[in-house]
Amino acid sequence: MDYKKLVAERIKENVDLDISFIEKLIEIPPKPEMGDFAFPCFQLAKTFRKAPNLIAEELKEKMNKEGFEKVETKGPYLNFFLDKEDLIKTTIEQILEEKEAYGSSDMFKGKTAVLDYSAPNIAKPFHVGHLFSTSIGNALYKILSFQGYKCVGVNHLGDWGTQFGKLISAYRRWVDEEALEKEPIKELLRIYVKFHEEAEKDPSLEEEARANFKKLEDGSKEETELWTRFKDLSLKEFNKVYDELGVNFDSFAGESFYNDKMDAVVDEIDKKGLLTDSNGAKVVMLEDYNIPPCIIKKSDGATIYATRDLAAAMYRKKTYDFDKCIYVVGTPQALHFKQVFTTLKLMGHDWADNCKHVGFGLVKFANKKLSTRKGEVIFLEDLLNQSVEETLKIINEKNEKLENKEEVAKKVGIGAVIFTYLKNNRERDIVFDWNEMLSFDGETGPYVQYSYARGKSILRKAGEVTGAIDYSKLNSKEEFELAKLLKGFKEAILASIDKLEPSIVTRYVIEVAKAFNKFYNAHNIMNLSDEEMKNGRLKLVEATCNVIKNALGLLGIDVVEKM
Ligand code: ARG
Repeated sequence: MDYKKLVAERIKENVDLDISFIEKLIEIPPKPEMGDFAFPCFQLAKTFRKAPNLIAEELKEKMNKEGFEKVETKGPYLNFFLDKEDLIKTTIEQILEEKEAYGSSDMFKGKTAVLDYSAPNIAKPFHVGHLFSTSIGNALYKILSFQGYKCVGVNHLGDWGTQFGKLISAYRRWVDEEALEKEPIKELLRIYVKFHEEAEKDPSLEEEARANFKKLEDGSKEETELWTRFKDLSLKEFNKVYDELGVNFDSFAGESFYNDKMDAVVDEIDKKGLLTDSNGAKVVMLEDYNIPPCIIKKSDGATIYATRDLAAAMYRKKTYDFDKCIYVVGTPQALHFKQVFTTLKLMGHDWADNCKHVGFGLVKFANKKLSTRKGEVIFLEDLLNQSVEETLKIINEKNEKLENKEEVAKKVGIGAVIFTYLKNNRERDIVFDWNEMLSFDGETGPYVQYSYARGKSILRKAGEVTGAIDYSKLNSKEEFELAKLLKGFKEAILASIDKLEPSIVTRYVIEVAKAFNKFYNAHNIMNLSDEEMKNGRLKLVEATCNVIKNALGLLGIDVVEKM
């Protein structure tokens, strides 16, 4: 049952206001002694020509209070206290019946969302920023699907552009074949960095690189073969990371995929009279929108990143007929997406309004700023491996005899990294701090996973519950607060869809874990002589584990049964 709706309906029976307007006015009081929902009567004062506190009194008298323990007034507020026993019972029963489907719905059935995430660049390291995009995109994919969306995950690989001309030059001059086979990305990065160093001394290298890329664009065999090799080597490495993370895509159509689809787009822009010459380059002027022009073709005739994004958006609309196209890309690219979306709109494609840039902050390590050009990067594989190693150390200290230690360390270590990315508002920068993110009792992945494993261990010890259950005996503050949270799972998911913000689900599961630990620390579960109460509490534990598992699953994090 949706209690907020129930409150709104009961008010609606007495005042002639729009139900959705009433729902918006309803508040969650800051303290439990003020009830579970509050309705402020200020807004009614004008219509009723009465002081708000008198209106509150009157409403209280007239109202049907069924389903509530009590309704009280406090000044201008009407405070609703839920029927605790009913809430606990119906919530637990619903969770245990729906299991892995608890929290889901088919609210968005028939709608399609294209999600563009991860998108690392070929021949360059899969770096910590791309993991930001990967974890947010993967979580949104799961969250939207859970509410009925048909999702299409696209990896818009950075596999095209003038840098490939540079790489071809660098390859021909400096490659160490052996190193390339052994550690492809490291070797490609090394020669790419060398190219930039050498080009400073000898600018003709840039010219050569441009010519290489032109040949590649025109489909020349030799250049295409090299490019294909770089791409295959890179993808092999990227796929290792995706496997570790358990991330999948429905399409790997990267930038090169649009090479033969851009002419048509440029033509369309031209036909619509939007193409302007600017020092030899072709651009779409956007001064009416107070943003710099969108470059379509450079003066040498080459297309750019933006041209490929225009072609990609049109291709996606045609192929998937999306209701939403979500680009999970760092906030520094906000202007780029504004230019692309505005250009699409000017072309007459009103669906551009359904294209959304979902930005995110920077990833920092102890105040170091990393530049790919100088070769300063942290390889993701190393980051994940380190997290798993550190986790294994902690497990060895805490629970040496644990079975499958390596497997647990892997799930917890990788989960901890993903959790760190998804924990705060995505626009916020992240500072990696091992001690903090691997702690078992902060607001961390391991803390939530540990809470789950703790619950599971209780359930294993207790065995199957067969006797009678009396939920009215679950009458403590801790039990009610936990059950109320469990009940709010779907609301948290919907809020995260509304803001395209997975952190709302992350914060939610942290709150559940905290409430569970409060309950667990305050109340005995196993050593109770009252069987009906014990059984009720065990069911609450089971329901909590169920919700934690579902919520972590939406974030792309596995649970472990023991830890
Ligand atoms: N490869 C790009 C980068 O690393 C991200 C691509 C994002 N997607 C897009 N459609 N532009 O910055």
